[in-house]
Amino acid sequence: MKKIKILNKSFCRPISCLTAYSPSIAKILDGKIDLILVGDSLGSTLYGMKNTQGVTMDMMKNHGAVVNKEVKRSLKVLDMPYKTYDNKIDAYKNAKLLLNHCKPDLLKIEINKKKLVVLKHLVDKKINVISHIGVTPQSYRNFNKIKVLGRTNIEKQNLLKLAKESEKLGAKAVLLECITADTAKLITENISIPTIGIGASRYCDGQVLVFDDLINLSTNDKKPKFVKNYFNFNRIASNIVKKYNREVKLKKFPNSKFTYI
Ligand code: KIV
Repeated sequence: MKKIKILNKSFCRPISCLTAYSPSIAKILDGKIDLILVGDSLGSTLYGMKNTQGVTMDMMKNHGAVVNKEVKRSLKVLDMPYKTYDNKIDAYKNAKLLLNHCKPDLLKIEINKKKLVVLKHLVDKKINVISHIGVTPQSYRNFNKIKVLGRTNIEKQNLLKLAKESEKLGAKAVLLECITADTAKLITENISIPTIGIGASRYCDGQVLVFDDLINLSTNDKKPKFVKNYFNFNRIASNIVKKYNREVKLKKFPNSKFTYI
């Protein structure tokens, strides 16, 4: 099996990655998955925001610190939130704050043509960066407006160019979100740093999903095509809650087993 290196760690291809926002989930994932991402998807997933634009440095610092403290074996990735890396000075200042507080191995930033100078600056300052391209959720106030990219030749060529530039400037990996399979294949075959995909086909060097989607934790019925629910936690938890409620009402809980004497 082909090996993929990120920083000083070697992984079997394809790389696996999931999000974690809390210590308990981080503990479950650690060592079983190659990369653990504290994603700013926590804005919508955990805080019920409509998009990720309301996610703050404090949120990322808090969740980043508790997750990264729990992770001993997997590689740790942390998202920089919206508007914290609009220019070189802000980007470096905020990157340092996140790195000092949370100690992740890598930071992830959403990249477009204009943000390449920021990527370069962070790399020049010896910061390990993952370049997130394709659909970049921080650019959307309304997630319903998101559409798959790479269907036109222009989009395909622009994405390839952005991925190549990211590699040239020193990104350690490129995350591809919601792009067509042939675009993901083209990019993966034409750069030498790993591609990690979400809604970007099996042609990527790795895959990432939001953990809550994996176990169907959210009550949101509208799921993107790329989400696979491996387990229906939502249904099971609802049944458990009903059972607990019944036992309380019937005074079956707490019985003597759960009572101090
Ligand atoms: O914020 C996040 O969780 C992400 C993934 C969706 C890749 O960026």
